[in-house]
Amino acid sequence: MKIIVGNWKMNGNAEILAEMMTEIANINTDNRVILCVPYTLLRTGTGAVMIGAQNVSKYDMGAHTGDVSAAMVAATGASATLVGHSECRACLHDTNADVAMRAEQAIKNDLWPIICVGETAAERDTGLTHKIIELGVRESIPNNATNGNFIIAYEPRWAIGAGVIPSITEIAAAHKIIREILNEMGFDETPILYGASVSADNVNEIMSIKNVDGVLVGGASLKKDDFIPIITSVK
Ligand code: 13P
Repeated sequence: MKIIVGNWKMNGNAEILAEMMTEIANINTDNRVILCVPYTLLRTGTGAVMIGAQNVSKYDMGAHTGDVSAAMVAATGASATLVGHSECRACLHDTNADVAMRAEQAIKNDLWPIICVGETAAERDTGLTHKIIELGVRESIPNNATNGNFIIAYEPRWAIGAGVIPSITEIAAAHKIIREILNEMGFDETPILYGASVSADNVNEIMSIKNVDGVLVGGASLKKDDFIPIITSVK
């Protein structure tokens, strides 16, 4: 079983979600599909699709205007959440420690956190890719993590929405580092996803790389004609 996550970012509506869920329910796949939707669309998933949020608060509750707690997300029936997504790290100025607090809240409330790590273009250009990945993994995993109760997603930030992906060798090297760190920390069952510019055209090549257990898809998860072929082609 592979894991295919769609990140709708600030897109979609209830009608499109209902249609997408029906489409996915009608296909024959062993893959675990998770749709991370805007807060207003959160709901209970189905056998075929898990529903997730795109972020949760670092805090339990209180005076945090605009923030949404993991307990609130869980109360909608949703069962997962992204944390530390590149766009959230950028606009909320999240450090790895902040991301770990969000992931801790998620786990505390029985949500499956998908912890995103990855380097910026500037970090890549200065040879920091592997260091950023290593720190991202080590520092963003919360204290209440156990083997398999969270997911890591490697998203090279410069490749998000760019229509280009790192070379196969680069993706393989990144995932190898992550797998080694996770194994060392006792999390050998934690899945590792690749995200950034995944499409039906490149998903098979990406999925053939060692230590890639699934994909995190942005733009190509918005339309059924793009997303369904990705789900069905991953075996
Ligand atoms: P794209 O697939 O549009 O590059 O987005 C990737 C992403 O940010 C998924 O979280």
